[in-house]
Amino acid sequence: MDNQEKKTFYITTPIYYPSGNPHIGHCYTTIACDAVARLKRMQGYDVMFLTGTDEHGQKIEKKAEEAGVTPKEYVDDIVANFKKLWGTLGISYDRYVRTTDDYHIKTVQNIFEKLYKNGYIYKSEYKGKYCTPCESFWTESQLVDGKCPDCGREVTDASEEAYFFKLSAFAPRLKELLLDEEKNFLNPKSRVNEMIHNFIDPGLQDLCVSRTSFKWGIPVTFDEGHIVYVWIDALTNYISALGFMNDTYNDYEKYWPADMHVMAKEIVRFHSLIWPSILMALGEPLPQKIYGHGWITFGASGGKMSKSKGNVIDPFVLCERYGVDALRYDILREMPFGSDAPYSNEQMFTRINSDLANDLGNLVSRTVAMVIKYFGGTMPGEMEFTEEDNDLYAAFDVLPDIVSEGYSTLHFSEALEKIFRAIARANKYIDETCPWILAKDETKQPRLAAVLYNLLDCIRRAAILLYPVMPHSTPKIFEQIGATEEEITWESVYERNKLSSTVTVKKGEVLFPRIDVDKEIEELNKQLAPEEAPSDLEPLKELTKFDNFASLDLRAVKVLSCEKVKKSDKLLLFQVDDGFGTRQVLSGIAKYYKPEDLVGKTLAMIVNLEPRKMMGYESNGMILSVKDGDGYRVLEFDDSIKPGADIS
Ligand code: ME8
Repeated sequence: MDNQEKKTFYITTPIYYPSGNPHIGHCYTTIACDAVARLKRMQGYDVMFLTGTDEHGQKIEKKAEEAGVTPKEYVDDIVANFKKLWGTLGISYDRYVRTTDDYHIKTVQNIFEKLYKNGYIYKSEYKGKYCTPCESFWTESQLVDGKCPDCGREVTDASEEAYFFKLSAFAPRLKELLLDEEKNFLNPKSRVNEMIHNFIDPGLQDLCVSRTSFKWGIPVTFDEGHIVYVWIDALTNYISALGFMNDTYNDYEKYWPADMHVMAKEIVRFHSLIWPSILMALGEPLPQKIYGHGWITFGASGGKMSKSKGNVIDPFVLCERYGVDALRYDILREMPFGSDAPYSNEQMFTRINSDLANDLGNLVSRTVAMVIKYFGGTMPGEMEFTEEDNDLYAAFDVLPDIVSEGYSTLHFSEALEKIFRAIARANKYIDETCPWILAKDETKQPRLAAVLYNLLDCIRRAAILLYPVMPHSTPKIFEQIGATEEEITWESVYERNKLSSTVTVKKGEVLFPRIDVDKEIEELNKQLAPEEAPSDLEPLKELTKFDNFASLDLRAVKVLSCEKVKKSDKLLLFQVDDGFGTRQVLSGIAKYYKPEDLVGKTLAMIVNLEPRKMMGYESNGMILSVKDGDGYRVLEFDDSIKPGADIS
């Protein structure tokens, strides 16, 4: 088949928020999509596998401000970590979309304009709960105990001018789409009922699609001050990355509509209600299928894993210690599609030991070792097959279609379980046929050859089926059993006895080393201890040279003026007398002090830090404060201390 004729397959992950580094939850979706993409490529499809990052919004704007960098600088660092992790995990994505990419911005602006021109977007008033110090709107459900979720202060009812998308107009068509049995648009089925009963039937509200209260987003071209808000920006990535309404790519005709959008359950609503409505409004075809999987949960209390709960397990550490494929296998094996699945290191070690080391690893190493021991590594060619072999063949014959269907519908756990059942059948075949007894009898050589050949060929078939999930270790298996390129294609997995009858095996490294569970858990606990320490004290830092301390210039300074930095809920802008003159400095203590209360105070400050720019102001030094519960208190001196006095 040349490329022109190949059937296409387009699969996407959500675009993740780079507000924190990627965690094991992001890994699940991305690995699942990677396995599907790899399967489809093996099956001859021309695959487009898209992932990326959703980089705009108030949260990122704030995080960047806290870190004293621009939003773009802030996301650049985290995006680099996402890409590094996908590299480590062997994620074979074809394209990576960033919502800060120029072509994406162009597409979003064009779509917004088109929807506005066609009457699907209109201007109105957004009403919500407003926190004045944070300059943020919140919905009722986002409030914590009725207060601002960011700073805990009172909120007030407020409104701002905003654009709205006519989501309500699409309710009947959405219901029809979701209930269309043949299309089977949304999976699992349970989510269909959820969407209809919780959202469509009670009445879909029009959707607020622009804001004026923050800056970090895509500007609405025809109305200055308005920023495209969340979903039109985010969801559009699936077509901007193909070149829809931009000139950067030219793949829209080829790959759209997507075959599969994959995500976890919390954003199914956006993908199965808002996204189809936007596409209907644009007059474009709808994606074929939406898959909403469950969450990887952590700890006894369950709940979605999140950075803020401090329960994130570093995927880099897991890959380094146990191998990339062990992690890929474990998280796909443990998550039945549609349900949540708890993650635990201990459970992963059990999987590695039982499935990978004992069942698969042993099958390969025992078989290869026997071929070397009894035939010097090269199969003799002459073989005697018997009825006894049929049950083993049958265990593998049924797998390809089941596995293909299972992987393609995210039922990895079930599909992998079936593959490992067949692997267990092969191990049992060794016990039934007792090659070591056959080896003692000269006349049984052809039977011994058939037994070992059957095992090698079943290993070949198992490894092909496992390749999409374990793309790093299965090539090592192919090498050990001497399989050639054409013996490891997807088509060949349907065939028995595909290996050459005179194949040469090769002893290789241990594929999946066993883990001493108790020792490993102890080791991990040691590593995790500082992060998970129950105390809220910062862990002590490592020793430093005396000279490092001596190089800091610490002085008493007198506050001459102090004011809030506009658009920042954290920063105060100071002019201070340092004994030599006036200097400007910023400090992130606006939540704990009124500016006027600090004027006239004598504070402690590091005066020889290199200047740093924050929110457009240069800061020359750092005012010292001490942590007090959730807040900070400045270090103060009484009036007898003169500005410029040395602190040592
Ligand atoms: O929602 N278990 O980004 P996000 C399983 N930018 N999957 C998990 C998970 C967990 N514990 N945690 C995260 C966004 N995920 C938007 C999406 S799309 C147009 C915009 C995965 O960074 C899962 O796929 O919060 C989930 O839907 C996604 O990360 C949420 O990523």
